[in-house]
Amino acid sequence: ITARLKAGPLAGRRVLVTSGPTHEPIDPVRYIANRSSGAQGTAIARALLGLGADVVFVTGPAEVPPPEGVELVRVESAREMLEAVEAALPVDAAVFAAAVADWRVSSASSSKIKKQAGALPALTFAENPDILATVSQRTAGRPALVVGFAAETDDVEANAAAKRLRKGCDWIVANDVSPATGIMGGTENAVVILSDEGAERWPRMSKELVARRLAERVALALA
Ligand code: CTP
Ligand code: CA
Repeated sequence: ITARLKAGPLAGRRVLVTSGPTHEPIDPVRYIANRSSGAQGTAIARALLGLGADVVFVTGPAEVPPPEGVELVRVESAREMLEAVEAALPVDAAVFAAAVADWRVSSASSSKIKKQAGALPALTFAENPDILATVSQRTAGRPALVVGFAAETDDVEANAAAKRLRKGCDWIVANDVSPATGIMGGTENAVVILSDEGAERWPRMSKELVARRLAERVALALA
């Protein structure tokens, strides 16, 4: 027997997950990036697999290894991530857990910028495409469920609610990533799920448990 039938509420469903940071090159040896271990996105992909989904996992250079059993697409930059995401469509649901760099260096150099006494390099930036907004606002082939994240340090719920409407996604998973919370780089998360139905505040729990509860919610929404 070579093919094993998957069981679970998401069997036969194709779900996309983005995870990790993106790296935006300055030159061949330097980059700018967001902080992201990839832990939450990886846990979500694993939880979706556990419910029987076929998972496309589009990941930037994360610290944690990708889960086994996903359709794995490794990317570096935001533009590569958008390309990989669009190539993965159509999907039933998409969860955008990646910490995408908002800007890339428009003056990126193909050769190493050499240090010169007294001369500082000047970087200029260009805005990266918003992958979540692009997918949320598709007229054809939009996933039935689009879930975004909002990592905030101030006015978490208000910022996240505005973000949900601005981008056009169905749910936003919002969290407070102020250094004092220890959430960035840690094993726990405290999230609020914002949807048409309002705000659902979950207590602080492991990123694995956040992932399992979110995957169950995805399964219910697609049922
Ligand atoms: N996101 C994305 N593409 C981008 C930026 C963000 O897909 N270029 C997604 C993230 O994966 C996340 C959501 O959008 O699911 C929110 O990201 P966030 O950085 O919080 O939103 P921004 O609109 O970039 O706002 P901010 O100014 O707070 O960074
Ligand atoms: Ca951003």
